[in-house]
Amino acid sequence: MSSLLSPLRLGPWALRNRVVMAPLTRSRAEADASANELMLRYYEQRASAGLIVSEGIVVSPQGASYRNVPGLFSDAHIAPWSAITEAVHRRGGLIVAQLWHVGRQSHSSVQPDGAPPGGPSAVPITGYSYYARPDKLRFETPRALSTQEIRAIVGDFAAAARRAIMAGFDGVEIHGANGYLIDQFLHRSANRRTDAYGGGPAGRSRFLHEVLEAVSVEVPTARIGVRLSPSSTWMDVDDADKPGLFSHVVSSLSGKGLGYLHLVEPNIAGATDASDAAPVRVDTSTLRPLFDGALISTGGHGTPSAETLLAAGTADLIGFGRPFIANPDLVERISGALPWATPQPRTFYSGGAEGYTSYPAYA
Ligand SMILES: Cc1cc2nc3c(=O)[nH]c(=O)nc-3n(C[C@H](O)[C@H](O)[C@H](O)COP(=O)(O)O)c2cc1C
Repeated sequence: MSSLLSPLRLGPWALRNRVVMAPLTRSRAEADASANELMLRYYEQRASAGLIVSEGIVVSPQGASYRNVPGLFSDAHIAPWSAITEAVHRRGGLIVAQLWHVGRQSHSSVQPDGAPPGGPSAVPITGYSYYARPDKLRFETPRALSTQEIRAIVGDFAAAARRAIMAGFDGVEIHGANGYLIDQFLHRSANRRTDAYGGGPAGRSRFLHEVLEAVSVEVPTARIGVRLSPSSTWMDVDDADKPGLFSHVVSSLSGKGLGYLHLVEPNIAGATDASDAAPVRVDTSTLRPLFDGALISTGGHGTPSAETLLAAGTADLIGFGRPFIANPDLVERISGALPWATPQPRTFYSGGAEGYTSYPAYA
């Protein structure tokens, strides 16, 4: 039997297998950021994963950058998510809510006040475009967030975490990866602050730790995961010493009793493969010894690479993103050594059932 299929007891969670559905933004929520029936069907189809990490769920309207992404910033968002978590639980699955704030990756066209978004410092993203279909726009220069605004965002993460638990999620994952707000704070290229939230790695990690502490008041620490992408420079997050930065960050997350640490592999740039994505590779195997809890590795995995990482003890769980888009029954396909279907990028964010709930289980 594949070691991917062996169960794992993780604090309060009993995982049926080590196959994690990685977080996947699919842009199928309502205009008011509510989840819906179509999303319920999609998650229910994928409930045989050992653990589902939900798509990024924004903690405030200011934290969003794309239309039709779901939120947990209003009590009205709780009931539709409750229906989804119940459906996953009915099928014996587990699901955590990924809590997300995009920071400077947003745009005035989607900000509630029509002003440019906030970020750690007034440094725009220059190497990438903001996609406002069908247009590609320039990213704007963000406003440097005030201390008061930072405190308010920390409060938004905590309030969203509270709603996630009310909605029946088994825990939350703090999205600290892929050049979004927390990752912007971590990296010198985006964080030029000279106050307590800037400076060296400890100051730049302060925001992450404040979010974690505030969320820990609402959710038992054993039910909290943190996601990081240590090698990625996607969306202009870079640092003169990435290995040093992430050794610091990962060590600082150790010893806290977290549910897990979720690392994105170096060959991934956001949602795509890029073999040249990481000018400096910070390998999962070098970070593994610095963290005392369970580790999820995600990015470009098939069964062989997953088995290798599990056997080496580099990871305890393996995340699959794109494979879960086209293979709702990925676990059964791993179990039967069946071929995997290929996902169609055209429908990743297109809205509607096509390319979302339309991928069949293996016949
Ligand atoms: C359509 C799509 C949407 C994604 N949305 C998210 C997201 O909401 N949050 C996140 O942390 N990562 C997101 N990712 C990244 C994936 O979680 C994963 O790290 C990446 O796809 C690499 O894994 P894979 O090779 O198994 O697909 C997304 C990726 C894709 C393809």
